[in-house]
Amino acid sequence: MLVEKNVPLQPSNTFGIVAKALRLVHVRSEADVAEALQDADLQSAPKFVLGGGSNIVLTGDVKPLVLKVEIMGKRLVSESARGWVVEAGAGENWHELVTWTLQNGYPGLENLALIPGTVGASPVQNIGAYGVELQDRFDSLDAVDLATGQPFTLNAAQCAFGYRDSVFKHSAESRSGGPQGFGLAGKALITRVRFFLPKPWKAVLGYADIDKKMQQSGVTTPDAQQIYDWICEIRRAKLPDPKVIGNAGSFFKNPTVSPEQCADIIQREPKIVHYLLADGSVKLAAGWLIDACGWKGKSIGNAGVYDKQALVLVNRGGSANPVTGGEVMTLAKAIQTSVYERFGILLEHEPVVV
Ligand code: EPU
Repeated sequence: MLVEKNVPLQPSNTFGIVAKALRLVHVRSEADVAEALQDADLQSAPKFVLGGGSNIVLTGDVKPLVLKVEIMGKRLVSESARGWVVEAGAGENWHELVTWTLQNGYPGLENLALIPGTVGASPVQNIGAYGVELQDRFDSLDAVDLATGQPFTLNAAQCAFGYRDSVFKHSAESRSGGPQGFGLAGKALITRVRFFLPKPWKAVLGYADIDKKMQQSGVTTPDAQQIYDWICEIRRAKLPDPKVIGNAGSFFKNPTVSPEQCADIIQREPKIVHYLLADGSVKLAAGWLIDACGWKGKSIGNAGVYDKQALVLVNRGGSANPVTGGEVMTLAKAIQTSVYERFGILLEHEPVVV
């Protein structure tokens, strides 16, 4: 196990923010975690688990010991009449896993193509796009308790998935702790994730962008590869590629309001984009709210609002003169204030602020 000091993190976060890890350990296996936890010097240090860095805002050098997860491997665990179980190491790139499953004849993850980040981060925020959330394809995961070094396995119920949410985003101490105040934020390192891809495969359609592709192409019964290709095209057209323009995907969650609140807002703002949820509540499009407040294309310092999708904040300074975490958060707060003043809704940011 190699402990590196003063490691530049600019290549390890998709915003391209400049910061250093004061100490960093590359975790390539479960044994590396065990070794780090047994090391007298590292044992008691606070720890920060870093995956693909696609959902973080670094506001300074990272003082906790950074555990950079690089556990690799992809395999078919089992196949039955009900479906396929596929396992991947937490350090695998998410999109490469999706591509690999399709190439090997295990469809089901195609709607989640091109989401930046690693496999290990995917359950933390329960990634989702175009009608599929990770929880819909999740089997179980292996993790290590960072206090005791004990490995453990969680099923879907134990992960307490919600919209862009899981047990890994809550601390037991916080009032928002998961079920019975059970939270694992900062307490666990995910090592492997298993996915259940059901048979028979069924296309998940019904999103306006996909409908448009069906109409344009005349393909009415797309296969998984076709959906994958469409999703890649849709995302490339409206979301910035982090390799070209630094960003962390959607910066805010789509807020949920009661039908009464929604009716009240619609009276004032008849064009508001909203979707009725199964539980009777209403989800509002945060991108629309931000856009309606005139933020699209605007900047504060080198932090900008992407001009094709107001939900995405970007690094306008590139790698030569990169945005700072402070600038990103100043812009985020200014957006929250104007959306609150106009609509009475407090937007919640998605990335973890470090
Ligand atoms: N809209 C605007 N202006 C904007 C952006 C959006 O008016 O600047 C409107 C759109 O016209 C549309 C609505 O808002 O009517 C929703 O926009 P879109 O379909 O682009 O989806 P979204 O709600 O903004 C969510 C996810 C994305 C995911 C897409 C597709 C969240 C926070 N974001 O975006 O996830 O790819 O749906 O399923 O739930 C991510 O999490 O990083 C992410 C990109």
